[in-house]
Amino acid sequence: MATTIKNSLIPLTFLVFIIIYGLCEDCSLNNINIGTVRSGKEIEGKPEWEVTVINNCSCSQSQIKLSCKGFQSSESVDASVFAKQGDFCLLINGNPLKAFSSVTFSYAWDPPFLLLPSSSLAGHDCS
Ligand SMILES: *[C@@H]1O[C@H](CO)[C@@H](O)[C@H](O)[C@H]1NC(C)=O
Repeated sequence: MATTIKNSLIPLTFLVFIIIYGLCEDCSLNNINIGTVRSGKEIEGKPEWEVTVINNCSCSQSQIKLSCKGFQSSESVDASVFAKQGDFCLLINGNPLKAFSSVTFSYAWDPPFLLLPSSSLAGHDCS
């Protein structure tokens, strides 16, 4: 009897696992969209750029890193939003960016940097 319950619990646990993860399977770097627009302002003679990072997915994603080799700015960038760590920059301290949410920051440099999503962890916090 106890064995029967145990044997049916294993596939059930597995099924629940698949359902939870299955909902998030489409969330990846492909759903991180980055848009850069010129703000129109100039900081110390350099054009200012407004960067919007969107998690265009139904689940949160955390530990979002962008490749940002050589990144610099003539205006200080809030490190709690975008922190340079070598060739990569960590977004919002690695905290989850919720489903369909975005985060924005500005920097000033000429020319603008090509910021590309480099890694992220898909969350299980799905909408
Ligand atoms: C979000 O993803 C959908 C479907 O792939 C796409 O049509 C839409 O343009 C994306 N939105 C943004 C803001 O990137």
